Formats: sequence, C-alpha cells, structure tokens
Amino acid sequence: MKSTTKEKIAVIGSGYVGLVTGACFAEIGHQVICIDNNEEKVANLKQGKIPIYEPGLSPLILKNVKRKRLIFSDSVKEGVKNSKAIFIAVGTPPRAKGEADLSAIEDVAEEVAKYMDSYKLIIQKSTVPIATGDWVESTVRMFKKKHAKFDIASNPEFLREGSAISDFMNPDRIVIGVETKRAREILSRIYKPIKGKMIFTDVKSAELIKHASNSFLAMKISFINSLSRICDASGANIDKVSQGLGMDKRIGKDFLKASLGYGGFCFPKDLAAFINICERLGYNPELLKATAKVNEQQKEFFLRKIKKALWNISGKKIAVLGLSFKPNTDDIRLSPAINIIRMLKREGAKIAVFDPKAMEKARQELSGVDYCDNAYEAIKDADCLVLATDWPQFGRLDLKRVKRLLKRPIVVDGRNMFDPANMEKLGFRYSSIGRS
Ligand code: UDX
Repeated sequence: MKSTTKEKIAVIGSGYVGLVTGACFAEIGHQVICIDNNEEKVANLKQGKIPIYEPGLSPLILKNVKRKRLIFSDSVKEGVKNSKAIFIAVGTPPRAKGEADLSAIEDVAEEVAKYMDSYKLIIQKSTVPIATGDWVESTVRMFKKKHAKFDIASNPEFLREGSAISDFMNPDRIVIGVETKRAREILSRIYKPIKGKMIFTDVKSAELIKHASNSFLAMKISFINSLSRICDASGANIDKVSQGLGMDKRIGKDFLKASLGYGGFCFPKDLAAFINICERLGYNPELLKATAKVNEQQKEFFLRKIKKALWNISGKKIAVLGLSFKPNTDDIRLSPAINIIRMLKREGAKIAVFDPKAMEKARQELSGVDYCDNAYEAIKDADCLVLATDWPQFGRLDLKRVKRLLKRPIVVDGRNMFDPANMEKLGFRYSSIGRS
C-alpha cells in the first residue's frame, strides 16, 4: 500500500492503540513520530524492544524504523514541531465509579498547545466520553499562542487485540468526526491508502459511535451467555442456538460465542465508562447495566460448574489452561481466566497454569500458582482441567494423553472447545457452557 500524499504525523501515547496506529501509518507511507512520556519504554522502543505481544507488530515497527518513516521520542515538543496531524492515544484508565480518568488527555492537550506555532489538527483516538473534544479544544485555546490555529477531530479506533494490524489495515469503517473542511481533508488524505468506507460525522457523534459499538458487542456476548444459562437449564444446545440465531443477517453470527464471560481492557472498562456518562447526562442505561451484570454472573456460574464437577475444591489440584483474556495476546487485564483462578484459590484449590504467551505478565500479578512449561505438565496429576482461554493449540491437545495424565477425568470447558459426545466417548466427565 503506497500513500500518494505523505503526511507528518505525531502519535502521543505508545500503548496498544498508539503503537499499532503509528506503525500502520508509517507502513502506508506517512512520516510518523510515536511519543510516550515513559522514558524507559521509549529507550526500549528505540532499541527495537516492543513492550506488547501482538502478531506482526514487531516486524512492522522494525521495518518502518529502518525505512526512517517511524521514530520514537519522549518529547511532545519534538512531535508537535515536526507534525501537522497529532493523534492523542494516551490511556484513559477507569476511576472507582467506572468513570474514565481523562487527566492524561488534559495534560497532553496543554503540552501540545504550548508548542504549537503553526496550524495543527489534534485528533482524539483513545476511547473517551462524549464532549471530551470540547474540553480538549478549550484547553488548547487556553494555553496556545495567540496566532496558532488548530482544529479538533475524533477518530476512534476499533482494532482488536490479537488482530490489531489487520483490523487497522482492513477496517469495516473509518469514523471521522470533524467540524471543519480542513480537518476533513487532512484525515481523508491520511486514510486514503486504506480501503474502508469513511463515515464523516460531527465530533460528538464520532465519540458516541465508539462507546455504542463496544457496548453493543458486549451486549451480544451477554445475550448469548444468558441464553447459555437457559440451555443448561433446559437441555438445549447453545452452539446450535447461536448458529440459528446468527444466520439471520440482521443479527449476524459474530460475537455470539458463549463463554465464561468477556474480559480485556476494553469491554468492561468502556461499558463502565459509558454507564457513567449516561447517568451524568441524566439517562439511566438499564440495558448497559444488565450487560455488565450478566457478565459478572457468568463468571460465578462458571465457578459453580467447577464446584459441581469436583464436589469439594479445597486441597484439589486444578490445571487451568489459558491466562490471557483471549487468544493471540499476552494481555491479562480483566481476564476472566485470572478471575476464575483467584476465585478457585480463595476456595483452597492448588492451581497449575499454562498459557502460550501470557505467563510472564501473569507472574507479575498472580502469585501462589504453579507456572508450568506446557499444557501437559499443568495437567499431570490434576483433579480437574479447566479451559479458560480458547487458544487454538488447546483445541489440538492429545486428549488420550490428557486422560492418562489427569488424576480424575474431569474437564470443565469455559470456551466450548471440544465436542461433548466425543469427550464422553473418551471417558471424560465433561462440562461446558450451555451444552449440558
Ligand atoms: C474490543 C472490540 O472488539 C474492539 O473493536 C475495540 O476496539 C476494543 O475492544 P478486544 O478487547 O481486543 O476488542 O477483544 P474482542 O475480540 O472484542 O474480545 C473481547 C472479549 O470478549 C474476550 O474476552 C473474548 O474472549 C470475549 N468474547 C468475544 C466472547 O466471549 N464471545 C464472543 O463471541 C466474542
């Protein structure tokens, strides 16, 4: 993919979204500077050490650094001086009541304003509450030099961890919230090499689209998880129900996979933030609250399933496969796997774990569990095997060997990875989600 017009871009915040955005913009031909205030992170990035595991990201960064299209810096000043388009991709962590903490965005807006000496387009990429654009605008206006002109835009990112680069390069849509023709033209030029329908809106609508999308997807998962409970109680099969439901084009088959609950840093955090925004705007979002509640209940329901399979948990060895919140990532933030392990530990279980990528990050968060070199080592002599993350390699386990290694042939599957009839044939006592 080649860009016809090369733009000078700064991306402030070199976390998940910032790094992927910066690397992809460089790949399509733009001149990019990725900025972060964490000096150690920047020093590592300069040496080619990428702080997260994301398929394809490391080679993409290294390639574009070599081509001199991508550089790293800890100086916002350097970024502002050398770019026309400035993307803000800093973190918006949750506060106690779920409300997003926007202080990093305010700090960046103030700093950018101070160094602006010509026209700049300041684009918000992090997921933020409606009207954050107004706050950024008034902050910049307050701190900028008199002559410096600027526009504000909102360009939310929809990438998923684990497939971030392909999501960025092949988006379903590119949402661009702008208030001026100039801003619209710059963003159209930046995204021109990427094939994907652009939708232009005002800034507030773009901000809302991001919250609406994430909560709708979370709602789909909670909906199917609610149905899984009905399946368990009635004897229906959730896989078939999901298939039949998803074949209706108006509903769609994606995000209808029953599980032990959704996790990750986006859905739980963004949903809590969205609930908070609605309440501040004077609206009580019952549907969003139910989505979050069903998800919490699903994790408890999964724990009850393990208890039912094992009878007594205290003192038993449980092998848990999977730590990340989904496959192809080492991200364990708000992972249901970690949640379940904590619940099981509280019940007195001895836990042995394995995850293909997330062991290092888990070690920093979770002590008192046995970190094993592979799945079979974790399973050896366990009273029960729990599948918590649907890494494809777990689906390819040698089940006869698993059966030989387990002390009791009990498997509780939070991701519906195996065929219940086959598991029964192999002699397992197998339980999964909504396929009782
Ligand atoms: C999500 C959105 O998909 C993305 O558009 C947004 O930019 C960020 O948030 P991500 O958090 O990377 O992306 O993960 P996603 O693939 O959406 O999965 C979220 C969680 O839902 C995972 O824990 C996953 O296991 C779970 N899930 C997903 C289900 O339980 N069932 C499904 O059918 C789909």
